[in-house]
Amino acid sequence: MKRIALTVSAILLLFATAEPKQKKAQPKKQEATSVQQEAMKVLMSGFSTDPRFTWKTQQDEAQRICSQYPSMEAMPAQAIQKVIQLSQADLRYPQWGIFWGDWREGKKIVENPRGGRFASYGFSDSPTDKGGNCYACHLIEKGMPGGTMGPNLYQYGKRWNITKENMNTQEALERVKAVYNIIYNSWSAFPCSSMPRFGHNGALSPEDVMNIVTYLLHPDSPVNK
Ligand code: HEC
Repeated sequence: MKRIALTVSAILLLFATAEPKQKKAQPKKQEATSVQQEAMKVLMSGFSTDPRFTWKTQQDEAQRICSQYPSMEAMPAQAIQKVIQLSQADLRYPQWGIFWGDWREGKKIVENPRGGRFASYGFSDSPTDKGGNCYACHLIEKGMPGGTMGPNLYQYGKRWNITKENMNTQEALERVKAVYNIIYNSWSAFPCSSMPRFGHNGALSPEDVMNIVTYLLHPDSPVNK
């Protein structure tokens, strides 16, 4: 496992360092391309050839942009803008639009560690098969253990100033929508973030995302107690 991880990071490093070289001279460009092809061959040799999975090895345009830079700080404003633009274009909303869902359903998905499984593949579409695994990276409810890679989400609804009195106003629902966008496609707000793009990659449906947002923001949710 460790070796695989090392290989993958070595490949990522190759992609990252190959890019600037390409701009200098023609022969180096060919060199970089063959290194990329070679790296792809190695990567694919360890992968299933099932077409339901192979699409995951192809980077989308936003990923290609992010891969060119070692960090967001190193990205030019134009590249950041492009990732945000691509990610916003991808946002989809529930049939009923932006309105409160069911926080109990959201809690289940948040706590389910089967994060990022593709419930829509067809061979495994039972509702228990999807999860956000949010605790891997976030602290959320009081007293619950969690990760610290992402910010603490305890009392997240209070931070957005959502109260029983204002929660159905247009203004509050705009804030609900902002949080929905973060969870559906984190890159629409935090370009190239390590937070998964749950809606974008089909791991969660718009209704799932709305229930999660309700769990994070609703005044009755344990997150805000
Ligand atoms: C692999 C780690 C990871 C996972 C899993 C993850 N997140 Fe995040 N999340 C982050 C990081 C990192 C940030 C900070 C954004 C940034 O700067 O990149 C973040 C930011 C957020 C924010 C914005 C916080 C703010 O400051 O307003 C929300 C809300 C959020 N995550 C919710 C969730 C939910 C809900 C889930 C599960 C469905 C989840 N995250 C899963 C890493 C993760």
